[in-house]
Amino acid sequence: MHRKDFFERLKGVTDPEMKRKVIGEEFIRVFEEVAERVGAEYLIQGTIYPDRIESGFRRYSDKIKTHHNVAGLPAKIRFKKIVEPLRDLYKDEVRKVAQMIGLPKEIVFRQPFPGPGLAVRVIGEVTKEKIEIVRKADRIVKEEFEKNGLKERLWQFFAVLTDTKSTGVKGDARAYGYVVAMRAVESREAMTASFARIPYNVLEKISTRITSEIPEVVRVVYDITHKPPATIEWE
Ligand code: XMP
Repeated sequence: MHRKDFFERLKGVTDPEMKRKVIGEEFIRVFEEVAERVGAEYLIQGTIYPDRIESGFRRYSDKIKTHHNVAGLPAKIRFKKIVEPLRDLYKDEVRKVAQMIGLPKEIVFRQPFPGPGLAVRVIGEVTKEKIEIVRKADRIVKEEFEKNGLKERLWQFFAVLTDTKSTGVKGDARAYGYVVAMRAVESREAMTASFARIPYNVLEKISTRITSEIPEVVRVVYDITHKPPATIEWE
């Protein structure tokens, strides 16, 4: 029901921080609507310490990015209070707590996924077509990493749809299409990260699959930047 609202609100928005603000607001409005229907007064959310640091809550820390669940929230909210039980913990600590209370492994070690979703993995304006492309590319990345036993040791791995177009050749014909970037990192708590040294045969398989299974894509690149200087996500 709300998918349309998100796409409509994101029309023409290209600035990453603006995207987060738009999504942060829409996100709360959706919860408000549901809360009204079911009579809920409090919103409990999973904000963790790095979300607050990166959103610039400390006087001497720079704002790196507005996490939609922190600084991206609108000023006026129809909840009595927002409750954040994990707000002082790093991700590895959250995982320890999750293990202590006996949550299943798939939940404890699930990969982080940014709150603003694939909107921050499509560079530039977000459209349904681009979301479809990045979703297909991401599925291929996930499948190949899992098949090759790389899943366990990595913090995150995913595809990004850049807003660069490039010339290629498919079959005998000229093609002009998107460049997809692949990102895979090792990290302990996401404040710093190293790009993962992935075997070339896995990279090759992914590149071949993405360009043959997704007609709109002609080129695949692998991101070899640590955090810092890059952040894990591209936006
Ligand atoms: P960065 O890109 O800042 O990401 O190195 C650090 C970790 O946080 C996730 N991330 C987000 N999560 N809202 C979220 O809930 C956001 O706006 C957001 N931006 C990044 C990212 O996937 C990584 O695990």
